[in-house]
Amino acid sequence: MNQERISFALEVEHISKIFKKGKTVVKALEDVSFKVKKGQIYGVLGPNGSGKSTLIRIISTLLIPDTGKVKVFGFDAIKDHLKVREFINRVSAEASFFKKLSAIENLLFVAGIYGISRKVAKQRIYEIAQKLALDIKRLNEPLEDFSRGMQQKVALIRAFLTQPRLLLLDEPTTGLDPRAKLEVQKFIINLRKAGTTILLTTHDMVEAEKLCDEVAIIYKGKIVASGKPQELKDIAANHKKNITLEDVFLYFTGYKFEEVEMEEAIN
Ligand SMILES: Nc1ncnc2c1ncn2[C@@H]1O[C@H](COP(=O)(O)OP(=O)(O)OP(=O)(O)O)[C@@H](O)[C@H]1O
Ligand SMILES: [Mg+2]
Repeated sequence: MNQERISFALEVEHISKIFKKGKTVVKALEDVSFKVKKGQIYGVLGPNGSGKSTLIRIISTLLIPDTGKVKVFGFDAIKDHLKVREFINRVSAEASFFKKLSAIENLLFVAGIYGISRKVAKQRIYEIAQKLALDIKRLNEPLEDFSRGMQQKVALIRAFLTQPRLLLLDEPTTGLDPRAKLEVQKFIINLRKAGTTILLTTHDMVEAEKLCDEVAIIYKGKIVASGKPQELKDIAANHKKNITLEDVFLYFTGYKFEEVEMEEAIN
C-alpha cells in the first residue's frame, strides 16, 4: 500500500447502483467518485432522493454496488467487508434497535459488544443524553414508545459511545430541535479533534458550511461538484459577493435547494 493511499480514510471509485421495482428503474447512483482524507469531515449534500442514503449503505457494506469500488483505510468494502466493519459505525434515521427493549438496554448491549464496562458505559450514556437534552428517566422506557427525534438521539448516543475510525452519519441532525442540533454538531467537531474521520449527509447548507472540510453536491445520483466549500464558492461566485453554499447548489444544479425539495415533496 503506498503512502498516497494511506492518507485517505475513504475512496469511492465509480460507484453505480440501479434499483428495479417491476417496470420502474431508478438510477440511485451514477458513476460516483470522491475521496475523504483521514481526519476530515466530508459532507454529501443533496435533496431528497438524490442517493445519499444509498451511498452510505454501500460504504457501510450493507449494500453491494452494481459497479465501482469502495475502500476504507485501503481495505476493499466488498472483499474485506469484515475488516471494514471494524473501522466504521453508521447512524441513520432508520436506526436498527430492539424496539421492545428500553433505550438503556439497547445501549448497554452495544457497549457490551465493544467491550465497554457497564459502569463506564452508563456514565457516558447519561453524560451524552444530558447534552442532547434527552430525559434520563425515559431511558428506561421501550424504544418503540420514543418519538422519531428521541430515537435519533439514542442512535447518536450509540455512535458516540464507541470510537470508530470512520463515522458515517446519514442526516444526523434532521428532525432534532435546535438545541440538540447544536449539541450534535459540537460532538461531531470534537470527534474530528479526536482523530475520527466523518462522512455526513445533510440537506442543511448552513450545517455543511459550519462542519465540513470538503463537500460533494449530489443531484439525481450524480456528483455535480466537489471540493472545499470555499473553492466551490469561488467557482460559483461569478460577480456575487457573500456567496453561500445555497448559491453553490443553485450554480451547479440550476435549481434552488428548496425548489428541488418542494418538487420531491409533491412527487
Ligand atoms: N431499496 C430500494 N428499492 C428501490 N428504490 C430505492 C431503494 N433504495 C433507494 N431507492 C431509490 O433510490 C433513490 C435514492 O434514494 P436514497 O434513499 O439514497 O436518497 P436520499 O438522498 O437518501 O434521500 P432522502 O434525503 O430522502 O433521505 C430514490 O429514488 C429511492 O426511491
Ligand atoms: Mg436518505
